[in-house]
Amino acid sequence: MGQYKVICHMVTSLDGKIDGGYLETPSSSYFAQEYENIHQKYNPKAWICGRVTFENHVTYGKQVDLSKYPDTDGSREDFITDTNAAAYAIAIDPSGKLGWEQGTLGEDYEERRGQPIITVLSENVSNQYLAHLRAVGVSYIFAGKSTKLDLRLALDKISRYYNITEFMLEGGGYINGSFLSAGLVDELSLILAPMVEGTRQSVSLFEYGDNPFQLGVEFALEKVEPLENSGLWLRYRLKR
Ligand SMILES: NC(=O)c1ccc[n+]([C@@H]2O[C@H](COP(=O)([O-])OP(=O)(O)OC[C@H]3O[C@@H](n4cnc5c(N)ncnc54)[C@H](OP(=O)(O)O)[C@@H]3O)[C@@H](O)[C@H]2O)c1
Repeated sequence: MGQYKVICHMVTSLDGKIDGGYLETPSSSYFAQEYENIHQKYNPKAWICGRVTFENHVTYGKQVDLSKYPDTDGSREDFITDTNAAAYAIAIDPSGKLGWEQGTLGEDYEERRGQPIITVLSENVSNQYLAHLRAVGVSYIFAGKSTKLDLRLALDKISRYYNITEFMLEGGGYINGSFLSAGLVDELSLILAPMVEGTRQSVSLFEYGDNPFQLGVEFALEKVEPLENSGLWLRYRLKR
């Protein structure tokens, strides 16, 4: 383990689902706001989401026109911009699919507006995509040659470059599962909404995908706080 800890902060239904119809109901908006409030309470210097979550909530599937960039400069050196920001948004985007248009979060994400974006890539991305990221001012770091990234290497680098000792891991389920499988989750901060999703296709809190399955990862309860609307804020620490 590096000199940092990772807290996985999520809203979950009673059946452990982190997306689906239950998050569209009127009563779910309270839990979404409480999620953001608790994030602000932790006030993390860095928070992490997977490519799909950023695509769904921040870049909305935008594609960048890469044809204007020449296919030159094959170097795969990390590109680090602002290291003095109060907080950073970190995207795990192995193939360079996210269509960033600026180097910081914009008004679509009011509460976190202005935070610089750091994207974690594999070396397999195109030269043009890297040229685009440099042009719009998105920092990038490489964490592996193939699209299966070395997440520990990613955190080691980011903590070193930006002097970060605490990361918040904020979904979705596949990225949470990848971190858990890599032994990188230290704590859980779960907002339990008293609702049932019930659909098989919705994503669970931890999805291993093709990562090695970890049998019986166990957490110890640290604190339970009741929330309004029959919700709970649960905090756990990994049992080592
Ligand atoms: N309830 C909550 O608190 C909460 C919070 C956040 C998100 N969500 C929801 O979660 C859903 C998305 O979850 P998701 O599980 O489908 O997607 P996700 O975890 O956001 O992103 C998954 C993607 O991340 C990349 N990835 C994951 N593990 C990797 C690894 N080991 N190496 C390299 N890349 C890796 C892959 O990108 P590529 O596909 O590009 O290879 C993978 O497809 C959304 O509906 C969102 O709204 C809920």
